[in-house]
Formats: sequence, C-alpha cells, structure tokens
Amino acid sequence: MKLKGKVVIITGATSGIGEACAVIFGKEGAKIVVTGRSKEKLARTSRVLEDNEIEFLAILADASCEADNRRMADEALKAFGRIDILINNAGISMRALFQELDLEVFKKVMDTNFWGTIYATKYCLPAIIEAKGSVIGISSINGFRGTPARTAYTASKYAMNGFFEALRTEVMHEGVHVMVAAPGFTASNIRNNALTAHGETQGESPRDEAKMMTPGQVAEEILKATQRRKRDLVLTAQGKVVVFLNKWIPGIMDGMVFREMAKEKDSPFH
Ligand SMILES: NC(=O)c1ccc[n+]([C@@H]2O[C@H](COP(=O)([O-])OP(=O)(O)OC[C@H]3O[C@@H](n4cnc5c(N)ncnc54)[C@H](OP(=O)(O)O)[C@@H]3O)[C@@H](O)[C@H]2O)c1
Repeated sequence: MKLKGKVVIITGATSGIGEACAVIFGKEGAKIVVTGRSKEKLARTSRVLEDNEIEFLAILADASCEADNRRMADEALKAFGRIDILINNAGISMRALFQELDLEVFKKVMDTNFWGTIYATKYCLPAIIEAKGSVIGISSINGFRGTPARTAYTASKYAMNGFFEALRTEVMHEGVHVMVAAPGFTASNIRNNALTAHGETQGESPRDEAKMMTPGQVAEEILKATQRRKRDLVLTAQGKVVVFLNKWIPGIMDGMVFREMAKEKDSPFH
C-alpha cells in the first residue's frame, strides 16, 4: 500500500511510539494528524514534523474526552478531506497492587486506553470505510498476558483486543483493515508517566530502558504491517514467546510472570 497523499491520524503522538509513527508515516508521503494533551509537547512534535518537511495538523485533544475525539475527526476532514488510517496510540500505564489502587486511577487508565480508542474509532470509522482504510490499535503484550501490579493497564489492553476482533469481523466485507499491534517493552516515557496507587506519576522507570526496542524500530514494524494489511503484529522475541506460551501453559506462566515482575526495582512483591 502506498501512503503518498493518504491521511493518517495518530492519537497521543507527542512522545514515544506515536511521535515515531508520525515521522515514519509522514516520510512515506502521508499527511499526518497528531494529538496530545500538552500544548508544549504538541509544539515540540510540530517542530520535529516541520524539520522533516511533513504536511501535518496538530490538534490539542484529550483521548479520554468524547467531544475532543469528535472534533479531531471533524478537523482532520476539514483540513484534508479524508481519513485513511487511524492509529489509536494514546495510552497511559500504572503500577500498584490492585488492593491499594484507587478506583479513580483504574478508571483513568480505562478512559484513556480503552474509551479513547472507542471514541476515536467511532468518529473516524465512516471516513475510513469510505477510504477502505485501516484502524490500528496500539495494544501491548499485556493484551494477551496479564501482569501483576498492572491490572488496569492489562484490562484496558484486553478490552482493546476484544473490541478490535469484533470490529474486524464486522467490517471485513467493507474493505476495512483492522490491526492490533502489540509492542513489547519499548524505551519511552510510558513507565515514567505510569500512575501509582493514588494517581501520582511514577517518575522513574523500574526497568532498564536501554535494553528495549526504540520507538523508531517499533514504528517501522507498524508501518510495514500496515502496508501489508496484517491482522496482528506482536513485537520482540520475548513478547512472541510470552503470547505463545500463555496460550498453551497459562498456569505455568502465572509463576514465571510473577517471578519476572517481582525482580523489578521497587516491586510491590519484595
Ligand atoms: N513503551 C512500551 O513499553 C509499550 C509497550 C506496549 C505498548 N505500548 C503502548 O504504546 C502506546 C504509546 O506509548 P509510548 O510507549 O510511546 O508512551 P509515551 O512515550 O508515554 O507516549 C504516550 C503518548 O500518549 C499521549 N497521551 C497520554 N494520555 C493521553 C490522553 N488522555 N489524550 C491524548 N494523548 C494522551 C502522551 O501525550 P500527552 O501526555 O502530551 O497527552 C504521549 O504522546 C501506548 O498505548 C502504550 O500502552 C507501549
């Protein structure tokens, strides 16, 4: 699939995987719409896109707000006249034991990761059907295998996967491509911004970010998979093994995953 002239909306594109997708899809000749909640971060990403001579529209929008998603679709159509690809990328994480976690934090994660995806897809889908385009969900290995102390994050990603499986089947005769992309550990701000039990940001990543895939590498894989209209994309060797083993030996995986996560810095299981 050629991307020249296509219109690609990427939610939460002011950092990490979203920003890398904006640059990589833009370099292929697509017109890019980026969103984010922070004016400053949006202005910084805009400069990156300008430096790469990419045609783009930056929209200040909160993924968890239905009205912002409707406005995002309207503004994209007004500016470019079509929507070919929606990448549901905006996401936040959390780390706390469920028994200590404020339900407000659980709700915030679901509102951003799950409801953000539902709202954006709802308002962009009519144009995507017209364009016979793609809806992409940036899920996670946590959409296939739960992680202790990440209950809300895991629930949001499983919910996304279920939604996309149903939607894919619903629109399969209308020429619409629906893909779930599941990155493994990727060096980004996700763990610095992850919420703790009472909703403060964690500040520091508890894992060695240097050993992870870079957002640029992840974006390259998402680009290739989108062009090939793949159904799923599961990233990192570790991620592929986890998804495979969890399908066949989920009980044994419970113990393995617990031991792996208990090794994290400041783990609540020490
Ligand atoms: N990094 C990983 O290890 C990893 C692994 C698997 C899956 N993922 C998924 O990949 C996606 C991107 O994460 P990342 O790793 O690139 O993290 P990141 O660097 O923290 O980027 C997250 C982006 O989402 C935006 N965002 C957060 N809440 C938002 C909201 N309510 N409305 C609009 N934008 C919002 C942030 O911008 P503002 O703060 O400016 O709003 C930022 O641009 C997420 O869905 C994440 O779950 C990441």
